[in-house]
Amino acid sequence: MILSPSMLSSDFSRMGDELAALKEAGISWVHWDVMDGSFVPNITFGPPVIKNLRKRSDLFFDVHLMIREPERHLEAFADAGADMLVVHAEACLHLHRTLGAIRELGMRAGLALNPATPVTVLEHVMDLTDMVLIMTVNPGFGGQKFIASGLAKIRAARTMLNRQERETLLQADGGISPENAGEIVMAGASVLVAGSAFFNGAPYRERREAFEKALA
Ligand code: DX5
Ligand code: ZN
Repeated sequence: MILSPSMLSSDFSRMGDELAALKEAGISWVHWDVMDGSFVPNITFGPPVIKNLRKRSDLFFDVHLMIREPERHLEAFADAGADMLVVHAEACLHLHRTLGAIRELGMRAGLALNPATPVTVLEHVMDLTDMVLIMTVNPGFGGQKFIASGLAKIRAARTMLNRQERETLLQADGGISPENAGEIVMAGASVLVAGSAFFNGAPYRERREAFEKALA
């Protein structure tokens, strides 16, 4: 299991130090929630912020774009140092082309699905997808409650992905804590995003261990 703490819940006034503390705590991935105030109600940060912080960190940058027309910004995120670039199926008119373009820029390509979007959207783009992100809250904010039907959806996505030879990561995002991490991984998730339940004041090493213990 990979744990990807969401910087959305970090202290924005000291993100560089936060990244160093995550590394120190044994974390290997970090999740960046990019929001445009249109695809989702909220606005966060974009390529210049990520690019500056890239200089401070060698963690794996897992960048979740909650923006309309993400195809207009792929090069900017490649230049900013994104390792995995995740686009929403609902935000792409030409999803197949966009996933291919992300890979051509040297990044891994991720596909995110809102809670109401069926997993079948994956069917004809599976070979272009390195990670599927199942939203287990409606995107836009941290600290929301896990949508229970997300478990069945993770199982359905896992079944689809297991039909192919190659391995595709399956990420769950939203409302995840040590309390429900076990059942989410049992359902088939291989990457867990955690925002508010990770950045809750306790030392990061302790938080990481709490998630790991929940899966033992
Ligand atoms: C929500 C974001 C999530 C968010 C998760 O739109 O995609 O990554 O940071 O936060 P928590 O873990 O607090 O639900
Ligand atoms: Zn996210």
